[in-house]
Amino acid sequence: MDVKESVLELVGNTPLVRIKKLAQNLKPQILAKVEFCNPGGSIKDRIGISLIEDAEARGIIKPGGVIVEATSGNTGIGLALAATVKGYKFVFVMTDKVCCEKSNYLKALGAEVIIVRDGYERDDPNHYVNVAKRIAANTPNAIYINQYSNPANPEAHYRTTGPEIWRQTDGRVTHFVAAIGTGGTISGTARFLKEKNPQVKVIAADPVGSVFKDYFDHGRKTGSAPYLVEAIGQNYIPENVKFQYIDEVVNVTDQDSFDAARRLTHEEGIFCGGSTGTIFHTVLKVAERLDENAVIVFPVCDTGERYLTKFHNDDWLREKLTSAQEHETAISGIL
Ligand SMILES: Cc1ncc(COP(=O)(O)O)c(C=O)c1O
Repeated sequence: MDVKESVLELVGNTPLVRIKKLAQNLKPQILAKVEFCNPGGSIKDRIGISLIEDAEARGIIKPGGVIVEATSGNTGIGLALAATVKGYKFVFVMTDKVCCEKSNYLKALGAEVIIVRDGYERDDPNHYVNVAKRIAANTPNAIYINQYSNPANPEAHYRTTGPEIWRQTDGRVTHFVAAIGTGGTISGTARFLKEKNPQVKVIAADPVGSVFKDYFDHGRKTGSAPYLVEAIGQNYIPENVKFQYIDEVVNVTDQDSFDAARRLTHEEGIFCGGSTGTIFHTVLKVAERLDENAVIVFPVCDTGERYLTKFHNDDWLREKLTSAQEHETAISGIL
């Protein structure tokens, strides 16, 4: 019989899909690695397994133990699947910026979900990471899994995402474009691809308002500003962001992110979230300056279903983006 022993065996080995209509006037091949094919619907399923198996290997999680994490949602879903299969409980701390689809999803999976206000500085006790740490410290038999600095996060992408891209493109990938949340995806994948071929270029897409671009370009940490795209960008530099594997950081506005995500959905049938829009907008910009020898790979990080009440909803988009005067002309282009 051809049977999987658990849903965890469905994680990874996601397909590459060629972008056609939206790449018509561009010379490079543009290939989307469709991470919504993972059982939890996002690229974070990969680290859900590796973070827990690493904790098991280090002996820091005991049978029946509790996993606590600060998450924008997708890591929580990946952790919840792995924890359920392995018999652990889970508590997640999220900010109120995150779509209710994700918190409802986590509750449906059996999680306890704590929502805190968005926008606190990293060293503020109310920052969602500090709240998660405190809950773990005060809960018997609990661990804070810490995707932001746990090496098992980039390691998962070094072991799986990078090798898959290398194999699927027959070693012909020339550019990898991704966003930075914890840094796990870009750091682990880039490290693998650059070890295979140091000529591979790695480009990070960063929301306007996040600190990564200024830090990369000028080595300084300026203040952050609010933006609407979820799960990527930060107001501090997590340890898992390894700038030595990144060649360029490109800033993208909310409007360009949502526009690109909706175009991928409407013209290629790739129903994706806003972070994928941030990445895809960058892919198109990078592709303009490259020739037919370039093979650009980018992750479709998660599914648009997670944002049905947000940027995939015309009323929400109109209300949010038209509140800024400069967005008005472009919004009529998106809707
Ligand atoms: C939808 C989505 N895209 C991108 C990212 C960023 O990936 P990473 O944390 O590996 O940098 C995340 C992280 O939570 C995410 O949920």
